[in-house]
Amino acid sequence: MKHTIEVMISTDEIDQKLDVLADKINAHYADSERLLMVGLLKGSVVFMADLCRRIKGHVEIDFMSVSSYGKAMTSSRDVKILKDVQSEIQGRDVLIVEDLIDSGNTLNKVREMLLLREPKSLALCTLLDKPERREVEVPVDFIGFTISDEFIVGYGIDYAEKYRNLPYIAKVIPLD
Ligand code: PRP
Ligand code: MN
Ligand code: MG
Repeated sequence: MKHTIEVMISTDEIDQKLDVLADKINAHYADSERLLMVGLLKGSVVFMADLCRRIKGHVEIDFMSVSSYGKAMTSSRDVKILKDVQSEIQGRDVLIVEDLIDSGNTLNKVREMLLLREPKSLALCTLLDKPERREVEVPVDFIGFTISDEFIVGYGIDYAEKYRNLPYIAKVIPLD
């Protein structure tokens, strides 16, 4: 698809939001001894890198890779684990870190999977939320930006694997 991109959220705006999110997360986990941040590959990598450097105290990071099948074919989506976390979840304070919540299917399934391992607590953080697109409700504890249903890329988010390296978030505009 021929397209162009246009800055939607600048690097400065992202930086400011990260400070706000980190303040909330640091306050929330002030008494936590071994927070585990779990990022979902690949989109969350850039956000995770910037967010975890703002978190105080003992923090560990780990990653999971999941793939959702049956997109647009069936309403019951099957989410499979392609790469699991290596860390013990039981008894830990776990914070899932996502770049974007769209339908909610990915986070909903990951949340259910991790809850089965009996964490001490499980919370969700997303940089971007598109509530208009939600198909399943997911409780989200920390949200960076709530956006309308735009086609976005950058800061970890791809369009056909491109643009993850942009230091800002951009809107994709189709050209004919
Ligand atoms: C994107 C995004 C979220 C997910 C959100 O990931 O990074 O993880 O989709 O969609 P949902 O709420 O409808 O489940 P994608 O599957 O494109 O993989 P990627 O992170 O490797 O780009
Ligand atoms: Mn993703
Ligand atoms: Mg993607």
